[in-house]
Amino acid sequence: MDWGMANRINRIIRPDTGRTLMFAVDHGYFMGPTTGLEKLDETVMPLLPYADSLMLTRGALRYYVTPKIDTPIILRVSGGTSVLNKHMLHEGIVAGIEDAIRLNVAAVAFSIMVGADYERDTLLAFTEVIDMAERYGIPTLAVTAVGKELVRDAKYLGLASRIAAELGARIVKTYYCDGFEKVVESCPVPIIIAGGKKIPEKDALKLTYDALKAGAVGVDMGRNIWQSENPVPMIKAVRGIVHPVSYTHLRAHETEADLVCRLLLE
Ligand code: 5RP
Repeated sequence: MDWGMANRINRIIRPDTGRTLMFAVDHGYFMGPTTGLEKLDETVMPLLPYADSLMLTRGALRYYVTPKIDTPIILRVSGGTSVLNKHMLHEGIVAGIEDAIRLNVAAVAFSIMVGADYERDTLLAFTEVIDMAERYGIPTLAVTAVGKELVRDAKYLGLASRIAAELGARIVKTYYCDGFEKVVESCPVPIIIAGGKKIPEKDALKLTYDALKAGAVGVDMGRNIWQSENPVPMIKAVRGIVHPVSYTHLRAHETEADLVCRLLLE
């Protein structure tokens, strides 16, 4: 692997822990002013010190985030549809590699729709992004989006993750499921999980814990952090689980659930 590619990946997945907390605020690209992100800067800035990287669109980056930060940026480069469209999953390329370079990004992210009507279009567009990004040593993050009619089980997520890696993704983002170890085992590149819709804090922390235990290298979490009533304690708790220092803090008498509660309170 060339130096630039390796360096960018090391900026995303911390070499000292082998883990990452990617903080996702890219939802506006198809959901508009999502609850909690109406004033994106006010939501993001207090949370940024606890994130290893920030995932968002180029518009959000330019309009809401100061260039004085040094948090690695994961640029979403797929989109072109909205929640109002019945063909919402038919995403294409919405940002080119020159702009990604201008924005000094650490990686580009693209959603693939395995098993959906537009599977072929999204997979071929993804390979175009990979070819362009690889030329400049920029890693690609495949986002395995799941259509409503598909089941998020290990068989499906394993298939989608493996396809993403075989096409050339450097990191895969998918969803946690029962038997997640199988998804990780059959994917040759690091896997992170999305948080998904807002759930109770304890459940989101348990999800994080279980995913890491099953072999994920981290999370790409959004709504369960910024839609929490206590976003700073929440991101700190997620961070405490993601980076293994927390395991050394697992006290002898503590169960995993106790750890999760304690981190939330600390
Ligand atoms: C939106 C995304 C999000 O970045 C990803 O799903 C993580 O956010 P959340 O934890 O809110 O699901 O890809 O399409």
